[in-house]
Amino acid sequence: MDIRSTIRRRISIRHYESRPIPEELLQEVVGSGENSVALDDNIGIRLHLVKEGRLVAERMTPLTGARWLFGSAPHFIIATSEEKPLFMLNMGFRMEQMILFATEQGLGTCWVGGMFAEERLGTFLGLGKGERVIALTPLGCPDTSFYGRATHDLFELGAMNFGRRKPLQQIAFGPDWDSPLETEDKELLEALECARLAPSWANTQPWRFLVTGKEIIAVADAKGRYSSVRDGKHYYRLDVGIAMAHFFLGAKEMGWSGSWQVIGFDPAQVAKAHAIPDGYEVLGTYRR
Ligand SMILES: Cc1cc2nc3c(=O)[nH]c(=O)nc-3n(C[C@H](O)[C@H](O)[C@H](O)COP(=O)(O)O)c2cc1C
Repeated sequence: MDIRSTIRRRISIRHYESRPIPEELLQEVVGSGENSVALDDNIGIRLHLVKEGRLVAERMTPLTGARWLFGSAPHFIIATSEEKPLFMLNMGFRMEQMILFATEQGLGTCWVGGMFAEERLGTFLGLGKGERVIALTPLGCPDTSFYGRATHDLFELGAMNFGRRKPLQQIAFGPDWDSPLETEDKELLEALECARLAPSWANTQPWRFLVTGKEIIAVADAKGRYSSVRDGKHYYRLDVGIAMAHFFLGAKEMGWSGSWQVIGFDPAQVAKAHAIPDGYEVLGTYRR
């Protein structure tokens, strides 16, 4: 299946069939994350496969309903990272490549950024100082019964826009902030559509894109809604990393050879040049 169909098909799976996934496929999923393209190669990440899902579910926060929802998952992958500048953006970009690979294989996943106490999972994994637990995902065959589907839909009722995505005009602009995007470039519109469909913390969709003559600028709404900033971890940055991965993969599939630059430019200068207001962060630029 092509990546753009996979992006359109992926949803957060919150209830699973109990049957285990074959070992080889589990290793392939982890490998897809370990071999994913990084935004910053100097940030070490690890993807810890926990084959006995119960061991993770029982360590998640009970009052959030996590154990009830994800206790059905046969496996989990826990993503940890060195704590360095851009670590959240980088993790969003990398882990989403793994999530999409798993989706392509017909497996269910769900980004989980809340519903766990970092210390508890850190102790379970035996993490050293400076390595942070960023997120986890259950992994297994989606429960496609009415009950399984209802766990998705019920949760999305509490998410922003009831889980629906913002229209493109609200997230993609011309060269200046809030200037309308005027383009008939079908490939560019398709790559932006891939980004628009990305999953995010409580569906907050904090990504914005400015399209200038020669590049695309990725910007984050830094308001941090729905408690998306916790203990020095800015999940809105991670969300933008996910949307950047969708853009990158969609564009690549259409033959673009560009990549995102996240270092080596002055964000304040870019913000000034494109009238990006306070409360927004410039996180990367893509050149085709
Ligand atoms: C960084 C991040 C953290 C998330 N944390 C949770 C979580 O703790 N629990 C949960 O059930 N869903 C979580 N989600 C899933 C979102 O709620 C979901 O992606 C969003 O509502 C859109 O729905 P969809 O993924 O089905 O398209 C998270 C998603 C992201 C990207």
